[in-house]
Amino acid sequence: MTVAPMIRYGLLLVGLSGLLAGGAVADAAKKNYRLHCMGCHQLDGTGSPENGIPSMRDEVGHFLRVPEGRAYLSQVPGTLNTPLSDGETAELLNWVMTNIGRASIPAGFKPYTADDVKTYRATVPQDIPGMRVRLLKQLEAVQIGSVR
Ligand code: HEC
Repeated sequence: MTVAPMIRYGLLLVGLSGLLAGGAVADAAKKNYRLHCMGCHQLDGTGSPENGIPSMRDEVGHFLRVPEGRAYLSQVPGTLNTPLSDGETAELLNWVMTNIGRASIPAGFKPYTADDVKTYRATVPQDIPGMRVRLLKQLEAVQIGSVR
């Protein structure tokens, strides 16, 4: 084997292992969703709005459009109280946003990191339901002001 094909082969292997690692992270997040979230939010994220569990399906990403929304998603009791580590919670949130919330996430979404989750967990506001109401009002204002 000459050098060029060897380098190409090496790059291919690096690329493949990157893909596999990404897949493993997503699989773990999906499993954690099933274990810790699905009981209330349903497998497809549609929840049970009539029982106070909002649908996240193609909607939850809208919260990322207002300043406190990113923190809020990490501070609701379901996300806050999982036994998962900050890193696992970040991966879980990223999975929820890019799968269940896919059609709603804004362009340029920056994935949550373990440090983000750590910070948000250390600064949870007292009134989460009040925060949700406030965020929904802000979102309404943004949408009224937008082109659509
Ligand atoms: C015991 C039921 C329950 C479980 C389990 C649960 N949630 Fe929730 N979740 C809710 C309710 C109810 C809300 C609405 C906000 C509130 O009242 O806390 C909510 C809201 C949310 C929101 C914000 C969506 C919105 O429209 O306000 C996110 C994000 C979320 N949950 C993620 C998760 C994740 C991730 C898990 C699993 C780690 C999880 N939840 C587990 C009940 C639950």
